[in-house]
Amino acid sequence: MDAIGNPTICRKKPCEAEDEECWPCQDLQCKPNVVCLPDFEEYAKKNMTKEIFDYYAGGSGTEQSVRDNQEAFKRIRLQSYILRDVSSRDISTTILGQKVPFPFAIAPTAMQKMAHPEGEVAMARAASAMGTGMVLSAWTTCTIEEVAAASGDGLRWFHVHIFRDRSITRKIIERAERAGYKAIFVSGDTPVLGRRLRALRSEFALPSKFRLQSFPKQLEIEDGADNDTFPQYVDTQIDDAVSWDDIEWVRSISSLPIVVKGILTAADAREAVSRGVAGICVSNHGGRQLDGVPASIDVLEEVVDAVRGSSIEVFFDGGIRSGNDVLKALALGARAAFIGRPALWALNYDGTAGVCKMLDILKKEFSVAMALTGSLSVADVTKDLLRRQIIYAKL
Ligand SMILES: Cc1cc2nc3c(=O)[nH]c(=O)nc-3n(C[C@H](O)[C@H](O)[C@H](O)COP(=O)(O)O)c2cc1C
Repeated sequence: MDAIGNPTICRKKPCEAEDEECWPCQDLQCKPNVVCLPDFEEYAKKNMTKEIFDYYAGGSGTEQSVRDNQEAFKRIRLQSYILRDVSSRDISTTILGQKVPFPFAIAPTAMQKMAHPEGEVAMARAASAMGTGMVLSAWTTCTIEEVAAASGDGLRWFHVHIFRDRSITRKIIERAERAGYKAIFVSGDTPVLGRRLRALRSEFALPSKFRLQSFPKQLEIEDGADNDTFPQYVDTQIDDAVSWDDIEWVRSISSLPIVVKGILTAADAREAVSRGVAGICVSNHGGRQLDGVPASIDVLEEVVDAVRGSSIEVFFDGGIRSGNDVLKALALGARAAFIGRPALWALNYDGTAGVCKMLDILKKEFSVAMALTGSLSVADVTKDLLRRQIIYAKL
């Protein structure tokens, strides 16, 4: 027990033992109590191998944008309004026409079996149990179909990159459609991968007991890449010639709504509208692509202003670590927020139960934030609730 009576973390090194029985540690007595999202990260940092933790936590270059994603939220302050009878609050919303009980869902993150043996299946089960959705990364370590089955009737969306061989992208999209995914999220911000120094330093590689499961098997066989080198091989197949015309191409081959992920400027947001997509996600990829871009939250408002009047839905991700952060993103015009790393830490903490716990904490925090800002519904969450800290004063 620690000083305040919480069970302390198991100090065994289960990952080094590579024993699935004890990785991640299954003994609940060894797990500390978690009451906010950063608690999950603290746990994961001690429970994962350094190589895997760094792969998930890291960003590109100096990681300025990783840090800024969270710091920028702290520069925005909330405004409370009092005595407004907040006894009947409705925190639900819709995402692409589908009702969700709260305005956040799970962002696509790669290779989740490194966080928990059940990987994306456990993550999808949690999203579904909580009534929200998850975007399945194309870099999934469970099959598209397994994850669909785990989601049951729950919401599921699928993420793709555009590959040099368009037929691979087409096959993946068709497979996702057959499995009942309800929208396609296309990463627009990854014509090449950012230079992620932590991963480069540790020579990170997907542990050989896992496979990337959404890529056609024949790709592996035809090109002779073995399991160990396959993830690196797939990276080389992302097309750096990808353009807005490819977004229209995806629209032409799929009847599903398309969301372009990685928007950071008004110009790109307007382009997305002109290409007829259903949604955009304001995102700097969790600081993993171009180091030095602004925090996602700092550009959200200008993107929202740029598409005002269109029917496009604006989503947000990057640096959300509390329900208050969700409220700030909504107040600046996002329809819903997506959660990246905290979902991975929660998955590592306790699989499906851990992710449910994380979503439940976020839901409670968001509900309290709504109450204390005098908001009865998400429509009441507007810029009136915010104040900006002035960080550059005039001399
Ligand atoms: C380990 C990791 C893997 C990711 N993999 C993908 C991916 O496969 N596709 C994608 O579009 N975004 C990916 N992202 C970016 C997330 O979808 C999201 O934009 C970002 O994590 C949000 O920031 P947050 O982690 O601060 O919540 C990944 C992020 C992380 C941390």
